[in-house]
Amino acid sequence: MSDSFSNFQKALENLSTATEYVEHKDEKFVQEPIRPYNKEEFRSQFEKTETYSLLSKDYNTLLFEKNFPPWFHASQVGQTPRLVYIKHITSVFSVVPFYYINFLFQENNPKNVYDLGCGQNLFKKYIPNLIGIGAEDPADPYYSADIHDFVDDQFVAKHQNYFDAVFSINALHFVALDDLRKVVLDFASMIRSTGKGFLALNLQRMIERASRHLYNQNLSYIENWVHQQLSNMPFDYEVYDVDFTCRDDFMDGNIRLVIRNVNLNFFKERSKR
Ligand SMILES: C[S@@+](CC[C@H](N)C(=O)[O-])C[C@H]1O[C@@H](n2cnc3c(N)ncnc32)[C@H](O)[C@@H]1O
Repeated sequence: MSDSFSNFQKALENLSTATEYVEHKDEKFVQEPIRPYNKEEFRSQFEKTETYSLLSKDYNTLLFEKNFPPWFHASQVGQTPRLVYIKHITSVFSVVPFYYINFLFQENNPKNVYDLGCGQNLFKKYIPNLIGIGAEDPADPYYSADIHDFVDDQFVAKHQNYFDAVFSINALHFVALDDLRKVVLDFASMIRSTGKGFLALNLQRMIERASRHLYNQNLSYIENWVHQQLSNMPFDYEVYDVDFTCRDDFMDGNIRLVIRNVNLNFFKERSKR
């Protein structure tokens, strides 16, 4: 069977099972991780790269831990965690996102890579064709985005089938966990069928905003619920790394998805509703 034919068949299968809503079922839902982060493997490859050399010059410590250490917890109003830890406490940078971002460049040569909710746009220095989209006030001294915008329904509608390569780290999770599927579908709808996207979300931010029904559940129920909501999607997962060992990963998220092969027909129909 030719590749394009099997891709076409897969797309049809996706289309017939993909839905806007997934009803939660009580039985255990098994979803195996796909290409999850492996610290040793990633480290041995990343240390050979130019990006690593540049980062090593800029920061005293590069962290390869899957989850940012909880002992770094601190709160500083008005600044994003990545800036707080880098500029104000110590010179530490978590390089873990590069594991997932690298997939955007594989079998793909995107002219631009977009970072939605870029905060201080700290990845730009290491990814020259990066365009950071930020919601902060342009008058704020920390404002560093290339484009001032905010991801909401209007933004999503304006950017359907738009990005060749896009990522968003811990920016689109300030909504109720109940809306997880919508957040992921909205993000995917902005990726071209030949493009790729990396989305990272922190479970804890969404639990804090969840309806009482979800808020009061234990972690194992929530984990099962999350896997169900992320199933039968109108795209493929190149990476499916959902790991709640660290329930509050405020730096790099604990729901990490690399999305590809987006089914445009599904989203065309969806946008008509
Ligand atoms: C935890 S910071 C992460 C910043 C950056 N992505 C990083 O990893 O360093 C959260 C950022 O998300 C942005 N944000 C929150 N909701 C957003 C939305 N709906 N659209 C765009 N940016 C958003 C905030 O302005 C803030 O800069």
